[in-house]
Amino acid sequence: MTSRNFTCFPVLITERLTLRQLSIDDHQDIFALRSDNEINKYLDRRVARTPEDAIDFINKINDNLRENVSVYWAITLTETRTFAGTICLYDFSTGHNSCEIGYELLPDFQGRGIMKEAAEKVIEYAFQTLRFQKIIAITHRDNQRSARLLRKLIFISSKETFEGNPDFYIFTLTESTQ
Ligand SMILES: CC(C)(COP(=O)(O)OP(=O)(O)OC[C@H]1O[C@@H](n2cnc3c(N)ncnc32)[C@H](O)[C@@H]1OP(=O)(O)O)[C@@H](O)C(=O)NCCC(=O)NCCS
Repeated sequence: MTSRNFTCFPVLITERLTLRQLSIDDHQDIFALRSDNEINKYLDRRVARTPEDAIDFINKINDNLRENVSVYWAITLTETRTFAGTICLYDFSTGHNSCEIGYELLPDFQGRGIMKEAAEKVIEYAFQTLRFQKIIAITHRDNQRSARLLRKLIFISSKETFEGNPDFYIFTLTESTQ
């Protein structure tokens, strides 16, 4: 039986990282992420303008978690408990048995292999525990760091663009290629 119930939050541990549930105490870090022009450069989303926007976002994320429609982790360095970024699985599709992955790191934590380490664990969880068969990533065609990460994770770039928008490419990872 597929378990997509997050009543007991799935904390994930890697060599350097603890992936834990987001809490209201993270609002300053979430604001830093969602208001940063460099981070937002290739993301199609509403930019956070005030700390309240970050609080609203965290509440929404935790509502979605309670409804078991997505799961969102704060990526923290285990040794210092420092917040580095976030990673999530969302847009669950029962028909295709697929989900989408999203991720972002604060600038100071980029270039250290943190996202690859976090994403490998989340992918393992998506396939082995949540029993998805396909993970999708949609990334802007100029977002080279994201594309480089996806290729390292052996995602395959599709010729298709997202909803016909030539600016966004679709990458997929299927369980059989793992
Ligand atoms: C996409 C994003 C998370 C990628 O971050 P990143 O730092 O390049 O990815 P990683 O954390 O996996 O780090 C990889 C880099 O760390 C380097 N590195 C340093 N120490 C390392 C270690 N111990 N292990 C592995 N890699 C290490 C790698 O060589 C690599 O550098 P390179 O890309 O110059 O070759 C980041 O650019 C980001 O947050 N962008 C804004 C949000 C965004 O666009 N999200 C995508 C939505 S689709």
